[in-house]
Amino acid sequence: MPDTILLTLQVNGVRRTVDTHPMARLLDVLRDGLRLTGTKEGCGEGECGACTVLLNGRVVNSCLIPALQAQDGVVVTVEGLAEGDDLSPIQDAFLTHNAAQCGFCTPGMLMAADDLLRRCPNPDKEQVQEGLAGNLCRCTGYSKIVDAVRSVARQGEGR
Ligand code: FES
Ligand code: FES
Repeated sequence: MPDTILLTLQVNGVRRTVDTHPMARLLDVLRDGLRLTGTKEGCGEGECGACTVLLNGRVVNSCLIPALQAQDGVVVTVEGLAEGDDLSPIQDAFLTHNAAQCGFCTPGMLMAADDLLRRCPNPDKEQVQEGLAGNLCRCTGYSKIVDAVRSVARQGEGR
């Protein structure tokens, strides 16, 4: 097995090439290879959702994805939600509703919520809870997060 492999992928709209370990995870490539540290590592076992990103249009736990599986893939991380200084609707709603406390779960929550709103633009409370079931938060009690997501839905701004 080679010491490193060359991985090419598109991240937040930009083509990137990274020299990485053949056994690296997508999470390692993002955080260590590309310094996109918005994506967090919580459990490292697919249980908490802190590492949630989009890979080829699907929500994934990047701690479970071998980097090689992302070869030539299209990745969106939390850094890709805002447009310049303009927060995305869901980021803005989290801010307005005080939906983050320590913030560790927030990037993953935002990615999962953004994906939910694209698939289901006007989710009710249960649909939000179900859509975010893979993302754990130890601080907020979830209600402000659900309120934030539903406020975007009510504005018709889900993407
Ligand atoms: S760090 Fe990936 S699911 Fe917890
Ligand atoms: S805000 Fe702290 S874990 Fe969610």
